[in-house]
Amino acid sequence: MRIEGLKLIHFRNYSQLELELDKNLNLFVGANGQGKTNLLEAISFLASGSSFRTHHESEFVFWGKKSCLVSGIVSKRFGKQTQQVCYESEKRRKIYKNEGVLVERRKYLGQLIPVLFTPEDLTLVKGQPQGRRRFLDEEIAKVSPVYEYELGRYQQIVKQRNFLLKKYREKIIGSQEIESWNEQLVLQAVKILTKRMAALHRISLLARLAHRKLTGSRENLDINYASLPTHQEGSHPEQIRQSLLESLEERKQEEVRWGQTLVGPHRDDILFFINGKNAKMYASQGQQRTLVLALKLAELEYVKGETGEYPVLLFDDVFSELDESRRRFLVETIEGRVQTFITGTEAERLGNFRHAGRIFTVSRGEVL
Ligand SMILES: Nc1ncnc2c1ncn2[C@@H]1O[C@H](COP(=O)(O)OP(=O)(O)OP(=O)(O)O)[C@@H](O)[C@H]1O
Ligand SMILES: [Mg+2]
Repeated sequence: MRIEGLKLIHFRNYSQLELELDKNLNLFVGANGQGKTNLLEAISFLASGSSFRTHHESEFVFWGKKSCLVSGIVSKRFGKQTQQVCYESEKRRKIYKNEGVLVERRKYLGQLIPVLFTPEDLTLVKGQPQGRRRFLDEEIAKVSPVYEYELGRYQQIVKQRNFLLKKYREKIIGSQEIESWNEQLVLQAVKILTKRMAALHRISLLARLAHRKLTGSRENLDINYASLPTHQEGSHPEQIRQSLLESLEERKQEEVRWGQTLVGPHRDDILFFINGKNAKMYASQGQQRTLVLALKLAELEYVKGETGEYPVLLFDDVFSELDESRRRFLVETIEGRVQTFITGTEAERLGNFRHAGRIFTVSRGEVL
């Protein structure tokens, strides 16, 4: 998939902007604070109505204005389409359109898929489990938008269950009410777990391959889903269901003590091992960078495998930080295949591609 043209109205520091994009490579160069990241954010807003930077939609709207709009012409193997998202700050609502026709969000999602690499991703390996779960959940949601709703439903159940645990304490144990919440929790947890394990299995194979190439076969990457020991890729859903129920039974006193649901996919983690050593503890800065890059490359292939189209790739600031050999490998992998958007402060450090794309200069909310 490719974005042929992009239009922004009152989005962040852009009053009005229309851009024709290169089908392979688009470099956005400019000093700090000029609007480079805002452009990548506009692409993620166009894709899903959300941003990688904030949950506060009002921030998207140009100061003093009431609404913002991003529209784009997205072309794929079987044709192209204009899609657009508008956010109205007074009504706090988003409006999604395909070819000018209003559509529901769930129908809109999945048409444009971005894969994003920002400096924050470098904390993925050593940061909190939440970030790693989010990484995986976002990947699945990109290719299977209904997953977002399934996950939301699960989180709602956990919240309600926690509320009951806190409110009724000991009295809740063995009550019909908690039993019924346990059933619902487990039912939804199984859906999440099976999707997560299948997706991670696929992603880990792809990442392992990319990682091997990035390290000249010196390092071996393993990725594991860390959950209850009985949960394995390929486990039967009934087996997962049973072990979750058993685990809930075992930990019920503890759950009451903490007023928290302690069993389920919201507590799981993803573990990375480089040559058998846990990367969270032992990976160097450079190794973390390589690992994350391998994951991003795996994402590209994962999306391609699931949807038949490569996503668009957004690099915010990180490209110029990669060393020569990683950059070369990256360029070889994506060039001509994946439409790429790269931001940076100096054009010369970005120019590693054989075929020049477009270089845009970004200055105070204008693109030249
Ligand atoms: N809603 C808004 N309305 C107007 N201006 C905004 C709005 N939100 C952010 N800005 C401005 O946008 C600019 C930041 O843009 P952006 O984050 O894209 O910069 P950048 O070019 O990526 O910079 P850096 O190189 O430092 O990452 C800031 O100057 C900020 O004041
Ligand atoms: Mg920036």
